[in-house]
Amino acid sequence: MTDSTLNEKDTYLCIVLGASGDLAKKKIYPTLWHLVRHNLTPKSTLFVGYARSDLTLANLREKVEPYLKATESEKELLEEFFGRCFYVKGSYTDAHAFSNLDAELRSIAAKHRAPDARVHRLFYLALPPSVFAPVTSHIRATCFSDQGWNRVIVEKPFGKDSASSAELSTHLAGLFKEDEIYRIDHYLGKEMVQNLLVLRFANAIFGPVWNRNYVSAVIISFKEPFGTQGRGGYFDEFGIIRDVMQNHLLQILCLIAMEKPCTARSEDLRDEKVKVLKSMDPLKLENTVLGQYVGNPNGEGDAKQGYLDDPTVPKGSNTPTFAAALTYIKTERWDGVPFILRCGKALNERKAEIRIQFRDVPGDIFGGLAQRNELVIRVQPNEAVYMKMMLKKPGMSFAPEESELDLTYRARYKDTRLPDAYERLLLDVFYGSQSHFVRTDELAEAWRIFTPLLHQIEKDKVEPIKYLYGSRGPKESDELCSRVGYLYSGTYKWEQPGKL
Ligand code: BG6
Repeated sequence: MTDSTLNEKDTYLCIVLGASGDLAKKKIYPTLWHLVRHNLTPKSTLFVGYARSDLTLANLREKVEPYLKATESEKELLEEFFGRCFYVKGSYTDAHAFSNLDAELRSIAAKHRAPDARVHRLFYLALPPSVFAPVTSHIRATCFSDQGWNRVIVEKPFGKDSASSAELSTHLAGLFKEDEIYRIDHYLGKEMVQNLLVLRFANAIFGPVWNRNYVSAVIISFKEPFGTQGRGGYFDEFGIIRDVMQNHLLQILCLIAMEKPCTARSEDLRDEKVKVLKSMDPLKLENTVLGQYVGNPNGEGDAKQGYLDDPTVPKGSNTPTFAAALTYIKTERWDGVPFILRCGKALNERKAEIRIQFRDVPGDIFGGLAQRNELVIRVQPNEAVYMKMMLKKPGMSFAPEESELDLTYRARYKDTRLPDAYERLLLDVFYGSQSHFVRTDELAEAWRIFTPLLHQIEKDKVEPIKYLYGSRGPKESDELCSRVGYLYSGTYKWEQPGKL
């Protein structure tokens, strides 16, 4: 069910469970503030934080305010925002605590609602997985509104493998309808990821070449220039494959590889994504490169620290902080085309991008000078779409030269604000749009593809290849790409026109 508008008369209660945690502080409250700042939700939207900590609203404000980055001129609006915030303290496991939460929610709504207004409740679970089950059971049993819709947002991890994920899904399915569950993968809220649908299906030029006849390889990469930054305890339990590849990169792969949905509606879109996943075999260890960063003695600050130097990481851990995996999609469109997913922490730069490399021009007349075309979709930073292409060197020369058709957002859309992924996704939940959220069957398929590999890595204690903090990662990853025919000519570097 998608609501085309939000009703100014209704009351919207957005309940943040885990309000005193890191995610709430760094992501959720800033997002809620943006919704208010840009007037995206009705003034009758109220924000209720819930956590075990003994806090007052003033304490909570102290914690989150530095992350809101409000300007001097927004002071009044900021007061209005905090005027719409509330805090309720309570346990995550005790039924009475949730009855109390429900009573508080009713009283908050009663003070603010118009007599005939509906009251909707949106629950954001910014919580550790250990309390997912009791919290969801309690909110279903005691906190659902009977005067409007109820929607529940869940953050990853959605389990650790097929079995644990299925257990969680079964639990949630026993409590909520599919259209009440919103599983966030924040990459689905990024401008360039959302752009894929339009780029592919609103342009006639891409359809005919978007297949095995023209595409030689697809690389989807995610690079971060910092390590675990004290988050090693959490990270070590999951590793980069579960943290980034199985969700963010796989979602992008689906959007690149799927067939055109029969409409742009959520279910049609998600049906097509699931078909892509169903056409993929489980990943194989021999098609995977695993890495773990070590400190760089010549590096500065954090770069001197390797993964194993993080005191929150268990001694001798084999958890990969880098992974590259080769996979194929066994459809008529993609059979034989290598798709490489590549992600890592503590690398040389921050970058997330999609590279679609096209085949060589058949019947070359330029003595091998023509380089392959490549369509690059730069997800971040500095959003851009550019097509590497050949043209005649301008001037008297007739020699071919590599250049690009460049759509750099910062240059083309100078005054356009690109909202943060969380902001878009949260607003989608208000509107009841599920297109950019992960459906249960989609999640099950994603785990089917990754679970055997993850189990093998853990069972055989596969040693990751060491790479230096601040490097490009293990060279074996580049070798994997060239082994399957991805050509890196190294002759050309894209200059960001955003620097204008
Ligand atoms: C999260 C991962 O899902 O995505 C983090 O858990 C990672 O490890 C983050 O740093 C990256 O998100 P973004 O939006 O900064 O690219």
